[in-house]
Amino acid sequence: MTDSGRLGGRLVGRFVALGITGSIAAYKSVELLRRLQAEGAEVQVLVTPSATRFVAALTLEALSRRPVESDLLTLLPDGRIGHVVTADSADAIVVAPATAHWLGAMANGLAADVVTAVCLATSAPVVVAPAMDGEMYAHPATQANVARLRDAFGYTIIEPEAGPLASGQAGVGRLAELSQIVDAVVAVIGRRPIRAADETGRPPRLAAAVREADLDGRHIVVTAGGTREAIDPVRFIGNRSSGKMGVAIAQAALDRGARVSLIAGSVEVDLPSDAEVTRVESTAELGKALATMLQAGPDGRAGFDALIMAAAVADFRPRRPAKAKLHRGASLNLELEPTPDLLAEAVAVARDLSPMPILVGFATETGSLERAVVKLQRKGVDLLVANDVAEPGSGFGTNTNRVTLLAADAPAEAWPILTKRGVADRLLDRVAARLDARDAAAQTGPRHVPQESRS
Ligand code: CTP
Repeated sequence: MTDSGRLGGRLVGRFVALGITGSIAAYKSVELLRRLQAEGAEVQVLVTPSATRFVAALTLEALSRRPVESDLLTLLPDGRIGHVVTADSADAIVVAPATAHWLGAMANGLAADVVTAVCLATSAPVVVAPAMDGEMYAHPATQANVARLRDAFGYTIIEPEAGPLASGQAGVGRLAELSQIVDAVVAVIGRRPIRAADETGRPPRLAAAVREADLDGRHIVVTAGGTREAIDPVRFIGNRSSGKMGVAIAQAALDRGARVSLIAGSVEVDLPSDAEVTRVESTAELGKALATMLQAGPDGRAGFDALIMAAAVADFRPRRPAKAKLHRGASLNLELEPTPDLLAEAVAVARDLSPMPILVGFATETGSLERAVVKLQRKGVDLLVANDVAEPGSGFGTNTNRVTLLAADAPAEAWPILTKRGVADRLLDRVAARLDARDAAAQTGPRHVPQESRS
């Protein structure tokens, strides 16, 4: 499970930039990073050159799973300008510890280091926690800089505390309690909307650390987007699906080493270039593409390991679509017929495949999720991702989702609001665990789901 996925955190789905400057208190920033993650935040670490003398980039990278930003002039691996991407996507910036030098640079807008540059370039709220020798903090120059940050820039200053200092003296200069700094970050973000819920809007993670390649050698079939049913050659009946959820699953599976077949209906997002893509328009075309996937290979074995049916498939279609454009008249009555339940049909075929693929459906509901429990049984899937599209931050077109995972053989799990990529990662945790359990059972006996996969 990702740190951002922990239940109940006050920063779930948030992206926080942690700026560390060169004070001895920088060692506490490592713990601050962990605390922010424990609240559910994704954290991008920014360091000034002197900070790296107190705390190693490797430590920060291993914990944050993102490359530390230390150089203003180095581009991100994808060519974007790191400090601008961070400034644009962070929900908050927290500078802890902030040295006297950094306060002076910031107060005067001298963006020689990446921490200052991000603060200058952002419209996100900024929290600053100074830490230094007591005399330095008390100096009128430092006090003037702090006042400027607070009064002119609107930054939240977390005053240092009195106590023993690294110099051996006592005074006001110790970094504030970490819980106070975390509380301040939570407070400044408040109920602001998530600025870059889509993973691609944020600086990239460390490629190798995104996930283990736990789907290496697996073939995952994902359906995404909406289907369209022709009324005539010009018009169709469609739905509001953007394809973001299915595409996030496809990308997450690729990142974990899987071969991915993506069957995509109408989508509003780019499709991953590494996926084997089949474009479809109607439910009938989607059905054909699935039927091809469901054919056993020449060796009699299933051609895929999991089917994740995230597509929003039309439930009705015009019984007799017109061959020529319908012209405007007084009124038009469309006779609709139900479409076949492709997932239920796929499940029926897949149950006879060997090894049996893991089958995942999605349930779009408005209001109570009780119907999803019935749907889980009716469709015969292993897992059903139920989401209430009427809830804020959930459903069509949004970058976030709040879902409940239902399983045929495990208790329901209500997940917190997550980015769609976060939902994809968690879902694939479950799929990977079930595939491992399936393979282990094939060797030793009956199929079971390992307990940890339910956590
Ligand atoms: N689905 C499908 N074929 C359909 C309709 C839906 O394969 N004709 C799949 C969807 O891709 C999704 C799951 O079934 O994985 C549930 O879709 P949903 O629209 O929530 O449920 P329906 O089966 O359409 O049931 P209802 O309309 O009663 O909610």
